[in-house]
Amino acid sequence: MKPGQRRKVVVGNWKMHTTAAEATQLAQGVVDGVGNEDGVSVILCPPFPYLALVGAILKRSRITLGAQNMYPEKKGAFTGEVSPTMLLDVGCKYVILGHSERRHKMGESDAFINQKVRFALASGLDVILCVGETLEQRKANQTEAMLDRQLNSGLADVPVADLPRISIAYEPVWAIGNADHHATPQQAEDAHAILRGRFSKLFGKEAAEAVTIQYGGSVEPDNAAAFLSRNGVDGALVGGASLKADELLAIVRAGINEGRVEMQPT
Ligand code: 13P
Repeated sequence: MKPGQRRKVVVGNWKMHTTAAEATQLAQGVVDGVGNEDGVSVILCPPFPYLALVGAILKRSRITLGAQNMYPEKKGAFTGEVSPTMLLDVGCKYVILGHSERRHKMGESDAFINQKVRFALASGLDVILCVGETLEQRKANQTEAMLDRQLNSGLADVPVADLPRISIAYEPVWAIGNADHHATPQQAEDAHAILRGRFSKLFGKEAAEAVTIQYGGSVEPDNAAAFLSRNGVDGALVGGASLKADELLAIVRAGINEGRVEMQPT
């Protein structure tokens, strides 16, 4: 598969934001704005309590529903947790796993994330696996080692047949929700090349050419095109800017434009 054949994707990770009324308005605004446009894949990931609500709004649209997390069991005595069976039941197709906020604020280990990745895939959810280094690790020249470690461990023992159902999100921890520390498009391109190279070592060249690698970390309307035009940057995982329909739609439009450019025969 040639790089240009990877479809651009824009994912809105709402994190722990919105009320039911805000979620309704936001989802409807994105649905209306995207309309019948299918140049980009758009995924919305609201908080758990609003999944069904948002799912109903997305139903006849081109937008897909995703969850921000899950617990790797079908059901049982796991107070406060949500299973993949439940997520599928309310219409989710995707789940974000390994987000840096779960790694660093909730203490999730590489092994636990791997357990979740394998369980999600086996249950029928597609996985967006997040990886990314901290500022200290970058300053200590450990970025490559960290990305290697998180990709290796996150994807350990994943069935090869499930690879098409996995995408990777590179989210440098220091650039998330941070107005002072933006990663440059070049830094994103370099990290994506490291990740695709590692993916190739693990699963072969063809799988590496096919895998979607999206960038996340303060992607906004005014920098989206700069990231999405970069070689190997196949999409955006958007936090803050996904909470305003017009901002997310501007990023979607950047994805459509850059996707079109890539699709041009050379
Ligand atoms: P921001 O876009 O707010 O930096 O968040 C990025 C992110 O963590 C998406 O998962």
